[in-house]
Amino acid sequence: MNQTMLENKADDLIAHIRKRTDHFFTWERLAAKLMVDHDTLVRIVDIVSDWEYRLKVRKNLGVAFVAPPDLLTNTEISYKLKTAWLGRTVYSFQSVKSTNDMAVKMIEKGAPEGAIVTAEEQTKGRGRFTRSWHSPPSAGIYLSIILRPALLPEDAPGIAIMTAVALADTIAHYRPGLVQIKWPNDVWINGRKTAGILTELSAERNKINHVVVGVGINVNHQARDFPEELRKIATSVRRDLRKKVDRVELLRLFLYNFECEYQKYLRYRLKKSHARIRRYSALIGHEITLAFGKNTKKGLVKDIDRNGALILQTDKGLETISAGEVTVVKE
Ligand code: BTN
Repeated sequence: MNQTMLENKADDLIAHIRKRTDHFFTWERLAAKLMVDHDTLVRIVDIVSDWEYRLKVRKNLGVAFVAPPDLLTNTEISYKLKTAWLGRTVYSFQSVKSTNDMAVKMIEKGAPEGAIVTAEEQTKGRGRFTRSWHSPPSAGIYLSIILRPALLPEDAPGIAIMTAVALADTIAHYRPGLVQIKWPNDVWINGRKTAGILTELSAERNKINHVVVGVGINVNHQARDFPEELRKIATSVRRDLRKKVDRVELLRLFLYNFECEYQKYLRYRLKKSHARIRRYSALIGHEITLAFGKNTKKGLVKDIDRNGALILQTDKGLETISAGEVTVVKE
């Protein structure tokens, strides 16, 4: 039996024994279930252990499932995933420079819409405005979603806002009432940045070829996992909740929320999410400075419109702003 076949059987073994945690399945029963001989079964159990599943393996009793690994693998993400099409193809890596760059490589190889790229660690994680995204091993979720929407290029920026709503809904599941979106698409818990989005577009004049939606979520970072300069302005779900969080579970929930929001976005753009965009907004009612290129503008945020643009009261009157970087001046 070749390696791929053994790995498929390893997936079957996991699916079977995880139904009853801590219960011993006899060697005979498992060999019959997987339709393999005893020696092959031993090799399959070794593969499952190498994948960092916690098992009890006893010569006389058989094999028992103890716990899955804390890894964003295909097997773990697919287990209990509620989406119809998103995340049904998973490219998972231990370490990459950037999952967004890896997603582009996968697109070149023909990755389908809804495929995702995950990594345990990024060595050159990228943020907006050519910043870096701190991506320590196994603490966060570093994810890129591959989309090929039938939309015009001008509808692409709204995808980042729609993603922020799906993220805010997801994080609010853990920290209800404490989550805000800093327009256009940073997600805060208690005023500290917890997640960011970097969408990258390939388009022609009238058509989008693909969009890569890069999402970084600080999940299990502890204070020491952040560099000094980020410690005060960034947080993680764990740091705020004071409890370790199941990254795979959070990711599954996000994929489900994203799929719902994206489906709505394709039909109604941001209209159906408008109420939530306003409710989550960290900016409405605040004085801000907005930077775009080398220019800046000051004003009071009056509202966010149905297209996701900021309505800013400046000394020139009301202005509608659809891009820029915001700093909050007055709380
Ligand atoms: C920001 O807030 O500036 C955006 C941060 C986006 C980070 C994610 S992590 C996964 C994906 N790969 C990257 O290199 N960046 C995005």
